[in-house]
Amino acid sequence: MLSPGSGVVVDVRAAGVSFPEVLQTRGEYQLKPPLPFVPGSEVAGVVRSAPAGGAVQEGDRVAAFCALGGLAEGAVAPDFLTFPLPDALDFAQGAGLILNYHTALFALKLRGRLREGETVLVHGAAGGVGTAALQVAKGLGARTIAVVSTDDKERVARSAGADEVVRSDAPWKDQVKELSGDGVDIVLDPVGGDRFLDSLRSLREGGRLVVVGFTGGSIPEVRVNRLLLGNTEVVGAGWGAYVMAKPELCREIGAELARLIDDGIVRPVVGARFALEEAADALELIDLRKATGKVVVELGAT
Ligand SMILES: NC(=O)c1ccc[n+]([C@@H]2O[C@H](COP(=O)([O-])OP(=O)(O)OC[C@H]3O[C@@H](n4cnc5c(N)ncnc54)[C@H](OP(=O)(O)O)[C@@H]3O)[C@@H](O)[C@H]2O)c1
Repeated sequence: MLSPGSGVVVDVRAAGVSFPEVLQTRGEYQLKPPLPFVPGSEVAGVVRSAPAGGAVQEGDRVAAFCALGGLAEGAVAPDFLTFPLPDALDFAQGAGLILNYHTALFALKLRGRLREGETVLVHGAAGGVGTAALQVAKGLGARTIAVVSTDDKERVARSAGADEVVRSDAPWKDQVKELSGDGVDIVLDPVGGDRFLDSLRSLREGGRLVVVGFTGGSIPEVRVNRLLLGNTEVVGAGWGAYVMAKPELCREIGAELARLIDDGIVRPVVGARFALEEAADALELIDLRKATGKVVVELGAT
């Protein structure tokens, strides 16, 4: 759908499953394709065919963002959202590379204006966007504090690079203030809901709260006098809407991530693997809040 009449055709070896697909199956996501449709926004695999002169060619291992149709043996993605898959990553990791890591880099660097040495608080930190944000923040020279709900998720967040971890059911705002001195520079928030106000209170002067999603179920509202009093900002970060008409920006983000992969910093965390015929179970795992890292559907060899 992103490249009518052209595009890179990929033999899919692994397809990523994410929160937006859960919303799509209920008709609750901004992208509402006519029924029936094949979900699956991103894949990793081997190029079957590609437009001449593009970034990849037949036989290349790639990660590709197709928006829809990824949960299938073949998928089509635009050239500007198809990237060579480094040998350091297997296909399952490749299927977790684009949506979460491009979003994390876009949200932290372009929208949040993250600078080296700053402190970043990441909500939902053991999830797909969360683990990506922890790694990208480290790669950009930040200190990271993760917010998670369980022991298992704490382990995942630490292994993804969290310097500190606090619990969402604890007085995390006060703990964050203590850990950070005077508050954090950035809150990266894929959760929203009723923790939003405490997120704002966790910012230091000049801090930015970057809105990424609403897994908590409700869209928070804020009395803007709080921004005035604290000299803080709330910033929206919608990756897809921003980058789709900007192929050069997609390539720049891809190149920066390739450097972070080379440096050993970006390593997508694959939390669960399913066969294609179990794709509904993969969606359910996310829906039940039990997923960690990226949930992947595998087809054939890695
Ligand atoms: N803005 C963009 O461009 C963009 C791009 C990609 C994704 N997103 C959005 O980012 C959000 C996160 O996506 P994801 O793939 O990282 O999801 P995920 O892997 O399922 O992680 C979401 C995390 O949210 C937390 N959470 C808190 N309350 C929850 C609840 N009631 N139900 C489920 N999870 C809850 C969970 O952590 P705890 O249990 O530790 O609290 C969970 O680990 C989604 O809303 C997605 O649509 C936005």
